[in-house]
Amino acid sequence: MTPPRQIAHIGIAVRSIDEALGFYRDQLGLVVSEIVELPERGLRIAMLPCGEAILELMEPAGDDSQIAGFLAKRGPGVHHLCLKVDDIDGSLAHLHEQGVRLVNETAELGAEGSPVAFIHPKATGGVLLELLEE
Ligand code: CO
Repeated sequence: MTPPRQIAHIGIAVRSIDEALGFYRDQLGLVVSEIVELPERGLRIAMLPCGEAILELMEPAGDDSQIAGFLAKRGPGVHHLCLKVDDIDGSLAHLHEQGVRLVNETAELGAEGSPVAFIHPKATGGVLLELLEE
């Protein structure tokens, strides 16, 4: 497996994108490139590019969304870190072979329109880690 090359994005759970933009956009000066609606996942995401990475503000859309559960349990904050890899299928096979606990054994289509898969926080020192192939 080729090591991950860069941080693709950082997912931040927020109760309200509008409220969070008061800091990230208005005070910090980042620009929203896109708002992505994913009603099937109970999710709305504001993308704010920062260099080659993106800060993704993740807001729940509906009470049964995963982000709503995260917010109820842990409150707002960093939800996951996403690393870019060259070959996601090869990376997942390599990690699986080594007994790394995966949330997704195979890649799925992510909010960015690219294949993604999550590695379980129990395997990573407590960080929900996402791999993404562009
Ligand atoms: Co992500």
